[in-house]
Order: sequence, then structure tokens, then C-alpha cells
Amino acid sequence: MRVLITGCAGFIGHGVARRLLGDGHEVVGLDNLTPYYSPALKRARLADLGGLRGFAFHVVDVADFEGLERLLDGVDVVVHLAAQPGVRYSLRDPFVYERTNVAGLLHVLEAVHRRSPPPRLVWASSSSVYGGNRTVPFSETDRVDDPLSLYAATKRAGELLAHSYRHLYGLPAVGLRFFTVYGPWGRPDMAYWRFTEALLEDRPIEIYGSTAASRDMTYIDDIVDGVVAAVLRPVTDEILNLGDAEPVTLERLIGTIERAVGRAARRIELPAQPGDVEATFADVRRAGEVLGYAPRVRLDEGISRFVDWFKGWSGR
Ligand code: UGA
Repeated sequence: MRVLITGCAGFIGHGVARRLLGDGHEVVGLDNLTPYYSPALKRARLADLGGLRGFAFHVVDVADFEGLERLLDGVDVVVHLAAQPGVRYSLRDPFVYERTNVAGLLHVLEAVHRRSPPPRLVWASSSSVYGGNRTVPFSETDRVDDPLSLYAATKRAGELLAHSYRHLYGLPAVGLRFFTVYGPWGRPDMAYWRFTEALLEDRPIEIYGSTAASRDMTYIDDIVDGVVAAVLRPVTDEILNLGDAEPVTLERLIGTIERAVGRAARRIELPAQPGDVEATFADVRRAGEVLGYAPRVRLDEGISRFVDWFKGWSGR
């Protein structure tokens, strides 16, 4: 198969590309290498893919419609992962979220629609669309009209755009709601990375709000399993959750990192951040039925693998 991956230098894009290339597929990668977090990390992910047979990479922004369209020649499946991530940063720079997560997705939908036949589209939504939802676990059939951050609102807007393309043209698109993905090659803006880095540098960790907040943290290899299954199988669902189905409190996350690093954390307690949700918890039954999805890596194991990787990456 020939697969176009947008956001290929990103955390999940790198993991999906690596797996597909290892399985003998061809990958056309695209990324604009935005400096939201370390471009050196993005380049290192690309270097990790660079030696693999069947890989081609292009610096293209999904805001560049013509550039995007040109890369669709011969593509069977588009995996659209290019996005502006980060819940809290979306309150500081909302426009970049609109450009990348709304207009960027619209470009991908329109470019795919103009091909005949259109490639199948697998794209990244987010658990954050569940916002203030209190019914757990979060199911794909729950109402999602209470986004608590601009990030969440742009991901939800993307779901509505994809819905219209499916309705109007029968566009074969499935949105995957990822739940707090972590692991080696991860994202420096997220809690597990920041806590690990602070502990290894003997700095205090910053806690926003209460450590009773919980997240359904999902290990990268499990997410890659789910995305690759959606690439290989013709999925008819519009939306699927990909989570761990076992939420952990921030308190437990901190304890797990302390054990993996072998050091106790000093804490700075800060106010809760506007935009944060209290808890996330995925119902993954539908993904299990449709994709054979079954998350396997438990938090202790996943964090220990992350800390080992992080020490190598950071030289600490
Ligand atoms: C994460 C990702 O950043 C989003 O891109 C993704 O879409 C989202 O998961 C999701 O699954 O939908 P978030 O849940 O905010 O968003 O993950 P973290 O950034 O790891 O934050 C988790 C919790 O830790 C939050 O309550 C946050 O306020 C807290 N935190 C974060 C701290 O207490 N201290 C920090 O230094 C960082």
C-alpha cells in the first residue's frame, strides 16, 4: 500500500510510519516542522525513518492546498495526523489551531474528495471533544457539544467537517479519538515528559490543580496498532475511540515516574489551568469490534520504557 502520512515528524506520525514501513508498505510523509516544540526532536524522528526502504519525506504545510494535492498521486490511504496539539496553548494562540486543525483538515478532505476514486482517510481527533462529559466511560455515541478548550473546539469542528463530506459524497473517512498518548519519541509539552525531565534534572514538578485529575493514558504502540488496523481494514464507522480504558490519576502517574526514575518529586502547586478537563476514560469496545483493538501496555511498563528512552535521548 502507498500511504500518505501528514504530521509524519510528529509523535504518532513517526510511530505509524515506522510500523507501516516495517511491514513493507510505502510511506509518503509530510510535515511543516512547526517549532511549537523542539524541531530537533522532529528531525531525529525523521532521521530514524530515513534509512527505511519505501520512505519519502516532503516539507509541506497542510495549509498549502496545491502542495498537498500533488502528494496524493497513487496514494491508497491518507493518515492525517498533522495538527496543532496542546490543550493549554490553545488559549494563547487560537489562530494557529484554526489554521491547522480546521482549515488544514478541510484541505485534506477536499483534496481526497477531488480524487477518483478517493483514497480512504484516517484522521486524528481527540478525547478532548468529550469536554465536560460526566458519563464514563466516554462512548462514541455520547453527545459532544461541550468543548472546554479552543483545542477541543477545533477538533470537534473537524469532526463536523468530516461528517459533511461523508454525508455529501460518501467520503470514506474515519476519525480516531486518541486519549493522552505517551511513550518513547513522545511530546515534550505533556505532563509525563515534563515530570520525567524535571525529576532527572532535580527540579520540582509543576502541578496544575489537583492530582486527583485523571487521564486515560494510552501507550504509543497500542495507538499505532489501532491506526494501522484502520489503514488496513475498510472501516465504515465515522468515529472510534482509541484509549487505554484504564484511567490513572495524576498522583498515580507521578508515583509511577518516581519509581522509574528512582527519585522522589518535589512539587510546586499551581492553579488549575483553564481548558483542562477533570477526567477522561475511553470506552474502546467499538474499536475492539471493528479494528480488533486491544490496548496491551500497562502504565508501569509504558512509563519505564519511556524513561529508558528519555535518558538515551536527553543524555541524562
Ligand atoms: C493531551 C494532549 O496534549 C492533547 O494533544 C490530546 O489531544 C489530549 O491529551 C487528548 O487525549 O485528548 P492533556 O490531557 O491535557 O492533553 O495531557 P497533558 O498535557 O499530559 O496534561 C495532563 C494533566 O496534567 C492536565 O490536567 C494538566 O493540567 C496536568 N499537567 C500538565 C500538570 O499538572 N503539570 C504539567 O507540567 C503538565
